[in-house]
Amino acid sequence: MQRAFDHKHIKPTLILLVALFGTSTIYYRQNLAWIDTASRQFVAFPDPQYPDDSVILEPDGITTGIPVVPHNYRSDGVLEVSSSASHPIHDLIAQAENKWHSKQNIASRNIQQAFYEYRRRYGRFPPKGFDKWWEYVEQHNVQLPDDYDQIWHDIEPFWGLDPADLQRVQSEQEGHSESYTIGKGVGEPIKIVNQSLSKPELMRASEGILSLLKPIEEHLPPFRAVMSPLDNPYAFFDYDVKQAALRAARSKKRLKMQDLPPTTVRGWLSACPEHRSHPAAPSKSGFTGRTFIHDHRKTMDPCFHPKILETHSQFLAFGDFPPTPDRPMIPQFSFCSSTLHYDIRIPSLLSWVQDIHPQEHNPEWDRRSDERLSWRGSNTGMWQTAENRWKESQRPRAVKFASDTEGEVKVLFPPTKRDDPVGEGRNVSRSKINPAFFDVAFAGSPLQCPEDYCKEIEYMFDWRKFQDARGAANFKYVLDVDGNAWSSRFQRLMVSNALVFKASIYPEWFLDRIQPWVHYVPVQVDLSDLHDTLAFFRGDLYGEGSHHELARKMVENSRQWAQKFWRKEDMTAYAFRLMLEYARVMSLDRESMSFSI
Ligand SMILES: *[C@@H]1O[C@H](CO)[C@@H](O)[C@H](O)[C@H]1NC(C)=O
Ligand SMILES: *[C@@H]1O[C@H](CO)[C@@H](O)[C@H](O)[C@H]1NC(C)=O
Repeated sequence: MQRAFDHKHIKPTLILLVALFGTSTIYYRQNLAWIDTASRQFVAFPDPQYPDDSVILEPDGITTGIPVVPHNYRSDGVLEVSSSASHPIHDLIAQAENKWHSKQNIASRNIQQAFYEYRRRYGRFPPKGFDKWWEYVEQHNVQLPDDYDQIWHDIEPFWGLDPADLQRVQSEQEGHSESYTIGKGVGEPIKIVNQSLSKPELMRASEGILSLLKPIEEHLPPFRAVMSPLDNPYAFFDYDVKQAALRAARSKKRLKMQDLPPTTVRGWLSACPEHRSHPAAPSKSGFTGRTFIHDHRKTMDPCFHPKILETHSQFLAFGDFPPTPDRPMIPQFSFCSSTLHYDIRIPSLLSWVQDIHPQEHNPEWDRRSDERLSWRGSNTGMWQTAENRWKESQRPRAVKFASDTEGEVKVLFPPTKRDDPVGEGRNVSRSKINPAFFDVAFAGSPLQCPEDYCKEIEYMFDWRKFQDARGAANFKYVLDVDGNAWSSRFQRLMVSNALVFKASIYPEWFLDRIQPWVHYVPVQVDLSDLHDTLAFFRGDLYGEGSHHELARKMVENSRQWAQKFWRKEDMTAYAFRLMLEYARVMSLDRESMSFSI
C-alpha cells in the first residue's frame, strides 16, 4: 500500500500541499460537486478526474514585459494556446504531477479509511465482501485503493432500476447472439454458464476473465453476467433513459423498466443532452489556433466533440444508420465502452505482457536513436468498401496525416527558454517535417475488405513489414491509435522504454488510475496536436528546444506505472470489486449485500 497520512493529519497535510502547489490541491478533496460528463449534471460526489477548471494554475513566466494572456482551459477538456504565455506543456505536466502526487498522498491506508472514503464518494455502503477485497488489495500491494470511480459510474444507473426487472432482462440477454455468460452458484466455482457464440474460438475471450476471477472466486456471491467476446461496446443509451435511471438511483428509488421514458431518435446524439450548450468559452485574444488536451476523458466524449462521430470507426462503421438506443437498460459487460455506451467495462488479458524479453528488445530511452514517432499496424477499425467512409476513420487518417507531403502545416516549435512566450507557431512544408517526424505506416496487407477492394486499398498505401519488438526497439516515440475498438497494445507500449502518444475515444478501466501528462502524452483524435506535442519533446527539425529530460522522466514514470498498476493482480482487484458491486445491484435484497464496519 501507498503510505498515506492518518485522516486526523489530513488537514495539516493539505495546508502544506496547498502551500506547495496552490489551491488546486485543496479542491481535490474538498470540492464536493462535479459535473457528470454524460449528463452535464451537478453530482454530489467528487471525481478526482474532474477538478474544478477555475482552480487550475495559470502559467507564470512574465519576463517579457508584454501582458501575458493565459492559456484558455476550456470546459470540454481542450486547452487553447495563447501566444504570449509560456509553452503550455510545462504547465500541463506540472499540474498533472501535482494531481498524481496528491492522489497518492490522500489514498486510504486501512479499511476504515477506505470505508469512509467510499461513503463520502458514493453516499452508499460498500458492497458485501469489501473486507475480503481490502485483504486482497493489502496482500498484493494494489495502489490507489479509493480510485475506482469508473466501476461506480458503470454500475450506478442500475441502482435506479428494479432488480427483478434487471434479472429478467439479464436472463433474456443470455440468448443474445455472440455472448457468453459467466456465473457462480452458492458455494460453486465460477464458470461459463451459458453461451451463444457462432464460433468456438470466440470463447477464448472468456478465459482471461475467468483467470482474473479464479484467485478470488470463493469471495464472490452468486451472480450471472452476460459478456461480449467482441471488441466493441454495444449498449447504446438514450440520454433521458439513463438520466431517469440515475435520478432514481440518487434519490434511492427503483424504476420498473416500463416506467423509463421513451427513447428519442436523434442518431448518436440521442446519448447527449438535447440542449448541449456550446462548451467552449469564446476564444480569448492571442489564441493561436493550436490546442492541447488538458482533460483526456472529456476529449473522448462526442457530446463535447461531435466531430468524433465522423472521424472514428466506432461510429463511422454504422454509416447513416446509427443504432436505436436501448430501452430497457440491459446489464452487460464488454472490454471497452465509449461515453455514449453503458456497457460495464471489465479488464482484458488480451496482449498483456509481464515484460519485454529479451531485454535487448527494450533498450533504455537514451540508447534509442530514432527520434521519429513510430506506428505499425493493420487497417482495422471497420469493414471497408468503396461506398463507406472508412478513409475518415482513425487509422487510415493517421497514416495519411503522417505521410502527407503536400502543402504546409503550422507547428508550435518550443522556445529555447522555458519562460519565453510560445508564439504563434511556424509554417513548415509537410515534405520537410513529416518524413523527419513520423514513421507511421500500415503493415502486412489489407484486412476487413472485399477481395477486389482490398487490392485497391493495397495501392493506396505504402505497406510495410510488421514491426516486432526488435524493430520497434530503436524508436524513442511511439503512437497508440484505436483499432476495431480499444488498443490492446497500450499496456505493452507502457512497459517499453519509448514515450507513448495516445489518441483514443475509449475511457478504459484504468483511466482513474493513470495520469495523462505524467505517464503518457494524450493526443487529440483529429491528431491536430501531434506535430506540436512531438516537437515539444524532440525539438524542431534540428532538435532545437527539445525536452529530452521531460520525455525520459515520463518514460520512467510509464514503465513504473505499468509494473505497479497494471499487473494481473491489479486487474483482479478491479474485476473483484466490480463483481461485488454487480452482484449487489442485481440482488433482490441489496441491503443485505452491503458491508459495514
Ligand atoms: C441460456 O439462455 C437462453 C436464453 O435466455 C435460455 O433460454 C437458456 O435456458 C439458457 N441456458 C442455460 C443453461 O441457462
Ligand atoms: C501557413 O499555412 C497555413 C495553412 O496552410 C496558411 O493558411 C497560412 O496562410 C500560412 N501562413 C503563412 C504566413 O505562410
